[in-house]
Amino acid sequence: MEKIRIGILGATSYTGNELIRLLAFHPNAEIVCVSSQSYASKRICDIYPELKGIFDGILLAPDAVSSVAMDCLFSCLPHAVSAELLIPFIEKGIRVIDLSADFRLKDPVTYKTWYMHEHPSPEYLEQAVFGLPERYRNAIATASILANPGCYVTSILLPLLPLFETIGKSIDWIIADSKSGVSGAGRTLKLVSHFVEANENCSAYSVGHTHRHTPEIEQELSFAARRPVSITFSPHLLPINRGILSTIYIHTRESAQTCKEIVAEAYANEPFIRMREASDMPRIAGVAHTNYCDMAFAGGGSEIQPVIAISAIDNLLKGASGQAVQNMNIMFGLSETAGLLR
Ligand SMILES: NC(=O)c1ccc[n+]([C@@H]2O[C@H](COP(=O)([O-])OP(=O)(O)OC[C@H]3O[C@@H](n4cnc5c(N)ncnc54)[C@H](OP(=O)(O)O)[C@@H]3O)[C@@H](O)[C@H]2O)c1
Repeated sequence: MEKIRIGILGATSYTGNELIRLLAFHPNAEIVCVSSQSYASKRICDIYPELKGIFDGILLAPDAVSSVAMDCLFSCLPHAVSAELLIPFIEKGIRVIDLSADFRLKDPVTYKTWYMHEHPSPEYLEQAVFGLPERYRNAIATASILANPGCYVTSILLPLLPLFETIGKSIDWIIADSKSGVSGAGRTLKLVSHFVEANENCSAYSVGHTHRHTPEIEQELSFAARRPVSITFSPHLLPINRGILSTIYIHTRESAQTCKEIVAEAYANEPFIRMREASDMPRIAGVAHTNYCDMAFAGGGSEIQPVIAISAIDNLLKGASGQAVQNMNIMFGLSETAGLLR
């Protein structure tokens, strides 16, 4: 079988680095170009020395990528920039996998409300497929525009979607308290990710229905429940490099055992979901550097006690580049786990 020719826009990003490491060892993929605006004409291993001997490609300026023949283009660019740069490739019929938020929301008005600018190509929003394989595998197989979900979003939707699909009417409210490692903020310099700010610290941010992942979570839960769903979502920054732990409070008349059985049944054949016992709670160290999502259910048992779902993922893998490769595998008819089990 011929290898899938891959391009990566924004290859100097943290998610780009992860993609290169995954795809350089993928049995059916070949990276044919990588781009950077700031480091064009340098080698990617000048930016990330650990890639030396693994992938030594020269970084192209973004506008030079259009002259390279490829089958699939990943974008690791910030939102807005990503859609702008992807449009010509979409128009040429190249299958794109966007790690930014640009194609995740179906409603351009919601996009404008949360991202504070008009969507550059709203005509493509309907066609884009939300890239959560556990929910949209069939649509992903034929997708030409793949919207890879947000990292927090993945950790929250995976335990909740089977519940909203089946017992959604019995769920009154949900609160997600999520904690992320600092790589979730990206490589671009920001005060919050300076060592002295983040180290030996833990702080909440964007609380009170203000974090940009909120509409994505609500969109997908509403689709599953077939009614509007709202969530209270409180993200926190943890002084670790990578990983997300989400603690999700679900007010429902159902027991934790029933919730666990529903979710376990829905994911019985999923290669990257691992159910844990309440006595062996998911933890970030158990999923770091893997594409797994670990989850467990506890609590409940009375009118006022919510069921509690705990989930853990690696934000850069199941929350970004690993899930993107999982989606690529489905889109190109490969084994879904190719290049992801190590
Ligand atoms: N970090 C995560 O855990 C995570 C998880 C899920 C999704 N995402 C999403 O995935 C995307 C990449 O995230 P990241 O955290 O890996 O990013 P990052 O480390 O902050 O890097 C972003 C990259 O975009 C490039 N860039 C920035 N502005 C640009 C512009 N105006 N034109 C062209 N290129 C530009 C920069 O490359 P040069 O300076 O080399 O040009 C930079 O390497 C984002 O949309 C993010 O929201 C991130």
